[in-house]
Amino acid sequence: MEQINIFSGKKTISHILVENGLDGLSVALGTYDRVYVVMDNAVAMCCPAAGQIAEILNARSIPGMLVEAHESTKTMDTVMTICSWLLEQGADRDALVVAVGGGITSDMVGFAASIYKRGVRFAYVPTTLLSQVDAAIGGKTGVNFERYKNILGVIRQPEFTYICPQLLVSLSERDFLSGVAEMLKTFIIEDNENYYDAVGLLSDMNMEHCSRMSAGEDEVESWQECVEKYSGELLKLICEAAKVKAGVVSRDQYEKDERRKLNLGHTFAHAIETLAQRRPDGNDVTHGEAVAMGILLAAELSERYAKQDEAWMEICDYDLHKRLTDDFLSIGLPVNCPYRIEDMAEVMKKDKKAEAGKVHFVLPAAVGDVRIVDFTVDEILSLMA
Ligand code: GLY
Repeated sequence: MEQINIFSGKKTISHILVENGLDGLSVALGTYDRVYVVMDNAVAMCCPAAGQIAEILNARSIPGMLVEAHESTKTMDTVMTICSWLLEQGADRDALVVAVGGGITSDMVGFAASIYKRGVRFAYVPTTLLSQVDAAIGGKTGVNFERYKNILGVIRQPEFTYICPQLLVSLSERDFLSGVAEMLKTFIIEDNENYYDAVGLLSDMNMEHCSRMSAGEDEVESWQECVEKYSGELLKLICEAAKVKAGVVSRDQYEKDERRKLNLGHTFAHAIETLAQRRPDGNDVTHGEAVAMGILLAAELSERYAKQDEAWMEICDYDLHKRLTDDFLSIGLPVNCPYRIEDMAEVMKKDKKAEAGKVHFVLPAAVGDVRIVDFTVDEILSLMA
């Protein structure tokens, strides 16, 4: 098992445990007296490893509850339901509350644990690639409120995050690729070697999956077999992405500076997701798909900015947009944003991250080199129009 630590100064504040199996989870839970598990209902129904997790819980008579984890249920109501259940169970200040599920589950459970009895300990067992490389690391918790995503919440670190790639085998290709976008984002921020390794592996997986389907194999089975076949290489990449994120969070836990870089692609992505939700046919984009399109738009903005800013011209890789587009295409990520820049700008103006009219925009100069540049939304609009 690999262990990655998150620090605050010299103090370890959270552990990330990575193992291709669940034995280590049983050991990790064994060190706590009072454990309570909150699991995403969809994981309990569909994830083959949920049975193994249930065995671990039953062996120690650990109580569990199920939650519906969707954007629409990511609310204070669900947080209060979790708190009521903890009260019913008699959970005390020595409790460890464990979230089993994707980012929505961990955000809600982390928040509930952070306010229950003024804060009890919590841990995460992320079951999506997106949460293994991003959401379950770094302590951002929260829920949606009124028309804002994640507007109520706290930054508070889990005791540990247990990452097991075996849990990913039942993910659909689309959900898997959603996590891939966040993984590539993490590497683009500061690690070009792993970025290229990831692109190589993921395009091989995509090619193999496509040729199996052309040979008449079932789409779902073919995808699951590809994930299983490449699970060793995936484990290494997930671990490397977790290391990058752990490093960023250790240096800037409260997102005053460097952690903002983890929002690469997200200014556009949030606008894309908002516009997708307004469509009469409903939300038609995953978070990762929006992030992939957002990263490409950010790369385009970078190239356009270089034409008018000499300092940026010095550091900007002029092939970045094309290179990323080719890479994303080879992996199967979407590359064409269906929305007009004018419509995205309208949404950006209302984003909670636009402080005093300025967006701390994460601008990629090259793979492995991104910087924060403050733009107004109107400046973004005039550069992209
Ligand atoms: N998902 C971005 C962050 O944790 O800061």
